[in-house]
Amino acid sequence: MNEANYSEVSEFIFLGLSIYRPTQIFLFAFSTISYATIFLGNFLVMLTVIFDTHLHSPMYFLLANLSFVDLCFSTTIVPKLISDLYSNDNTISFQGCIFQMFVLHVLGGCEMVLLVVMAWDRYVAICKPLHYLTIMSPRKCILLLIGTWIIGLIHSVCQLAFVVHLPFCSSNEIDSFYCDLPRFIKLACINTYRMEFLVTVDSGLISVTTFFLLIVSYIFILFTVWKQSLGSLSKALSTLSAHISVLILFFGPCIFVYMWPLPTVPVDKFLAILDSMITPVLNPAIYTLRNEAMKVAMKRLSKQLLSRKDIC
Ligand SMILES: *[C@@H]1O[C@H](CO)[C@@H](O)[C@H](O)[C@H]1NC(C)=O
Repeated sequence: MNEANYSEVSEFIFLGLSIYRPTQIFLFAFSTISYATIFLGNFLVMLTVIFDTHLHSPMYFLLANLSFVDLCFSTTIVPKLISDLYSNDNTISFQGCIFQMFVLHVLGGCEMVLLVVMAWDRYVAICKPLHYLTIMSPRKCILLLIGTWIIGLIHSVCQLAFVVHLPFCSSNEIDSFYCDLPRFIKLACINTYRMEFLVTVDSGLISVTTFFLLIVSYIFILFTVWKQSLGSLSKALSTLSAHISVLILFFGPCIFVYMWPLPTVPVDKFLAILDSMITPVLNPAIYTLRNEAMKVAMKRLSKQLLSRKDIC
């Protein structure tokens, strides 16, 4: 009740990516095409994994779940951006802004843990192949997935708990195209230095730690394979290089946004585009184009769909 007195801001205005109409039209076309690609690509990966029984193994279930998280992640940012660019109405309500930040942090946290689970899955499959089916049983896989969502939720609640009670006075312009936690905090009309520090430590440290943990575990896997035999190294390299490229694509921007010492450099907007529009396109592309089993399954699925059409 108290905050109603000084919280005069009921909506926020995104300053967006550009004020020039031609640039806006280009961005409109670009984000529409990229969102359509994200939607189709990730949907296709999920569909293929769910309907093809040959792909019913933990690795592909985790991939499909990653596609789901990626799709949701872009959906919280890109459709709103497209409609803003189309209508030139860049406002978002206070609740909408909080909701967007909450969902982004749940999904971001969830995706990070999911990547760790995927690395663990590869570790067991490559280094302990004889125990793979007992260690990564279907039940364990579902429990791990529930765990990723719970960790994402806890992370997001912790971040947002500090923020929902912030007082806002007059300035309500967010120099971005989505509600970004560091920029949101800066708008509050109290000294937020400590809070900014907490948020940076929470998000930044989590990303950096997870990133290095993952890199170290992939190096460890490669080293183990290399000691076994050189033939299996090249095979493992082709699977693992896909995982490692996704890691760099996902964490690179994330770490940069939170750890960059100059918080208002516009580079972070570009990186946000990378995380919401490019990485979700590349994930399914990297996994499907490089994965023989996935390609075969997609062909099988399309054949099934086509033959069903003939019957009708
Ligand atoms: C996520 O994984 C579970 C099994 O671990 C699977 O049943 C489910 O279909 C997957 N979700 C998606 C969206 O593919």
